[in-house]
Formats: sequence, structure tokens, C-alpha cells
Amino acid sequence: MRLDYLTIFPDYLDPLQLSLPGKAIEKGLLELHVHDLRQWTHDRHHTVDDTPYGGGAGMVMKPEPFGEAFEALALGEGEGEATILFTTPSGEPLTQSLARELSTRERLVFACGRYEGIDQRVLDHAGTLGEVREISLGDYVLNGGEVAALAITEAVVRLLPGFMGNAASLVEESHEDGLLEYPVYTKPATWRDREVPAVLLSGDHGRIAAWRHEQALRRTAERRPDLIHASQGASEWEIVPAVRADAPELLTLQLACWVQEALDNDTLDIPALHESLDDVLAHLEAWDVYVVRAAGRLVGSVSGHAEGDLWSIGRLMVAPDQQGRGMGRALLAHIESVAAPATTTYGLFTGERSARNHRIYKKAGYRLRGDLAAAPGAVTLTKRRR
Ligand code: ADE
Repeated sequence: MRLDYLTIFPDYLDPLQLSLPGKAIEKGLLELHVHDLRQWTHDRHHTVDDTPYGGGAGMVMKPEPFGEAFEALALGEGEGEATILFTTPSGEPLTQSLARELSTRERLVFACGRYEGIDQRVLDHAGTLGEVREISLGDYVLNGGEVAALAITEAVVRLLPGFMGNAASLVEESHEDGLLEYPVYTKPATWRDREVPAVLLSGDHGRIAAWRHEQALRRTAERRPDLIHASQGASEWEIVPAVRADAPELLTLQLACWVQEALDNDTLDIPALHESLDDVLAHLEAWDVYVVRAAGRLVGSVSGHAEGDLWSIGRLMVAPDQQGRGMGRALLAHIESVAAPATTTYGLFTGERSARNHRIYKKAGYRLRGDLAAAPGAVTLTKRRR
């Protein structure tokens, strides 16, 4: 990834050379260029701002230096369009999902605003040269966009493949699954008469995962109820038994969900992708199938059926635009709760490279079972019933 910064305070961006971005540069994952916008001014005072047309307080950043900078950076030329980021309090908020989206880009160019903002024509022009995103750090006003550019850089760069030593720590942290992170502890087990919660010392990974999930929910409910509504609204969604009339929508949902699986696992050889309406109707006969509707639309489903003391769980799906809100977890908890009485173990399959599924199942207490058979490219996970 290549990153360019246009700023009138290049020194402000010195921290980019430190710490993790610095290491990413060493590893060749990142190329980073900070440019002083004033080099594209031509007057004695290197003027980058002027008074606003229509009057009003403050100054506006002039268009010409930005226009020349875009030319010098060859934006809009050659192959591969750049994403041009304008840091501004009136932009879209920086979120983990935006950081993830930006981490897929080849080239980011940060235009750091100062004063009252940048002449709108710069943004309009940039839109003809590449993808434009206006991004805000939050609902407060900073003196300029440099701090925002630093924050965006850090959020994005740590998601680059090969950047973080421990990829698992990426998927377990706050916001990655729509919840805040649970509290964490390290040694010693007792410190100033304060004990680490006993469950964390129990060695029971299922109980630990359940405790952490519960803590994450509680924390999110207390601190960010705006997130919990979306992530926890199982009661609003209502999980109900599927009926035959659900089959066409189930087939559509299945295709939408398994296309993502196909991309993650780099194969179209996934049975669910090749089914017909009749296959879905046959599945409805053979399995206990549940669905979730949101505003009338079928957005989620899960199936279960008994094989002796094993409760086989399958076809857990949530519409791509509804993911990250806890619906998958709610469906999984539901299908576990309706397991046949003789069940001692829950079992399911997923693609071996379906990172998102692995994350959800791991958090729900499932463990990979390399010792149990699965179709090529798939893996088995199980969990003991309590
Ligand atoms: N520039 C000034 N305030 C800002 C904010 N909140 N986010 C991004 N850029 C800014």
C-alpha cells in the first residue's frame, strides 16, 4: 500500500515513521510520503488560504495548491485509482468497518484540511481523479486534519495482511464483531487484594468464551447502547420455524451468503451454491429450520438435526448487509437451545478459510476438530452440551 499526505504541517506526521507503521515500511508492506502543501504555492508568503466567498469567519484553503499537488502525485493517471481522503468533522465517521474497507486499497492520499475547510472544488475535482472519502474522527472539532490522518493510518495499516504479529488479536478486539471488548487480565492472579475472575483461571475454554461474551454485551449495553440495539435485538427479530413458503427467500439468502464463502475459500465447489428450489424444500423437510425476518424480509436462518447424541447445526446464514450485529450468535444460541434431548455435542462444518465464521464459532465456545472428518476445504467444529 502506498500512502501520501498533503499537509501544511509535515512535522505533525513524524510519528508515522515510528512504531508499527515504521515496521511495515521495513517489511515492504508500506510506502509512505509526506508532502508540504506549500511547495505548490508561488507567492512570497506561500499562501494556502483565503477569505470565504459569501463572508463569514475564518479562512478557506485555496484550490490551486491542491490541484498542483494532485498533478504532481499523478492522481488519475496510469492504472489503479487512488482513494483520496479528506479529513473533516463533516465527513463519515471513522469506524472499524471503514478502516477494513480502506485497508483493501492500493493507494490512499490524505488531504489534511486546516482552518474552516478546503474549497469545495478541490473535492469535486478529486472525484474525477479517484475515489473520494470525507472522514471524521468524531463529533468534535480539531485544529486540523493531521491527527485524523494519523488515526486513520493506524487503524488501516494494522489490518494489512502480514502487519500484525498475532492475527487472532485482530479478530477478538473491540468493534470487530460489533461489540466492545471484554475486560482483560494478566498475572499476577491477585494484585492488591483484587482477584482475577475465577472463570479465567478455570481452563474451561467454553465457559471462558461465554463469560467474555457476556461481559462484552454488558459493557456495550452500559457504554454504547447505540451499538447494542443493533447487535442484540434478538427479540426484535424474532426467530421462528421456517415454512415451505420461505423456500424461495431461503434460496436467495443461501446464494448471497455462500458467494461470500466462495470468495473466502477461493472455490465454487460448495454444495449450497448449486442447489435448486427443490433442494431447499427437501432440506426443509429433513431439518429443523428457523428463520429471522426483519421488517418482513427474510434475513437469517439456521438448521439443526439429530444424529444420535450429536446435534448437527448447518446453514447458519445472515444476509451480508445484516452481519456484525449479533444475529448469527442469536441464531446459533437458538438452534442449540432447541437441540434434541439426547444431544451431548453440537457439531457443525465451515470452510477452512472462513475467518468470520471461525470467529463467531470460537466465541460461542466451539473448537476445531482436526480429528473429525470434513469435506475437502471444510473443517469440523464441536462443542459439548452443558
Ligand atoms: N479536522 C478537524 N476536526 C476533525 C475531525 N473531527 N475529524 C477529522 N478531521 C478533522
